[in-house]
Amino acid sequence: MKKLYGVIGHPIAHSMSPVMHNDAFTALELPGYYHAFNIKPEDLEAAIKGMKAIGIAGFNVTIPHKSTIIPLLDEIAPLAEAIGAVNTVILKDGKWIGFNTDGHGFMSALKQDWKSDLQKEKVLLVGAGGAAKAIYYTLASEGVLSIDICNRTLERGEHLAAGCPFPAETNALSLLEAESSLDQYTLIIQTTSIGMSPKVKDTPLSLNKMKPGTFVSDIIYNPFKTTFLQQAQEKGALIQNGLGMFVYQGALAFEKWTGLTPDTERMRKIVIKQLGGYDVNR
Ligand code: ATR
Repeated sequence: MKKLYGVIGHPIAHSMSPVMHNDAFTALELPGYYHAFNIKPEDLEAAIKGMKAIGIAGFNVTIPHKSTIIPLLDEIAPLAEAIGAVNTVILKDGKWIGFNTDGHGFMSALKQDWKSDLQKEKVLLVGAGGAAKAIYYTLASEGVLSIDICNRTLERGEHLAAGCPFPAETNALSLLEAESSLDQYTLIIQTTSIGMSPKVKDTPLSLNKMKPGTFVSDIIYNPFKTTFLQQAQEKGALIQNGLGMFVYQGALAFEKWTGLTPDTERMRKIVIKQLGGYDVNR
């Protein structure tokens, strides 16, 4: 009998996870099936109990449940606890254990597209929401020290920096301050929703002062190349969209459930096919 996995979210119809994971099960000849479950916030508690009762072997968690699921699980891994958000749940000895693979997914994609030794980079995070927090805390937990944060609402960036439980040298900046000191950064990570459809022309900040050769990553992958990435490329940056982060956060979850490493190139291709586009990173 196939083991059942899935993703819970609301809405969930457009999730790329089912096609990506089901293809990985097929490729590895594993008896698994992955389904998207549309769970309303008011049904979350009942859903988590029900998933254990019907024997679901593991699942992903997406918006709006990443934080609210925490008190409903049996254990939380330390990094997920620090971030305050879970995107992957495994079942171990009858217990639901929550992890956050978003930040490590981002790092794996960065290592593949750029470099593996990030400790000496000067990083600028754009945004201070949930995605920024996962990336910030994960980078800091892996020894990346110099990570500044710029955000529309300065206090939110300050709050994020003050709460980081890992060693980091962080200045919280306004968007204007970041724009005027952009030449000091070697890695810029765009974590906001600015540039997503339908407002595809919007960008979070001007790149006038950016140095050519800077690596610019945008966690958005739909559109494949945001206006921000286009502008960065025109100014001589190396660019990366969010597809790699999405693929690797999924691959890390798959590994936790099955003990096997899926083919991430194959995963990338199947998501691109599903989105009907081309790959800006290759
Ligand atoms: P997520 O969990 O997906 O990161 P979030 O917590 O809502 O989403 O955070 C969204 C981020 O995008 C925040 O940094 C937000 O800035 P504020 O803290 O000032 O709200 C940023 N953001 C969203 N829309 C924006 C806009 N139009 N201009 C500037 N920043 C924006």
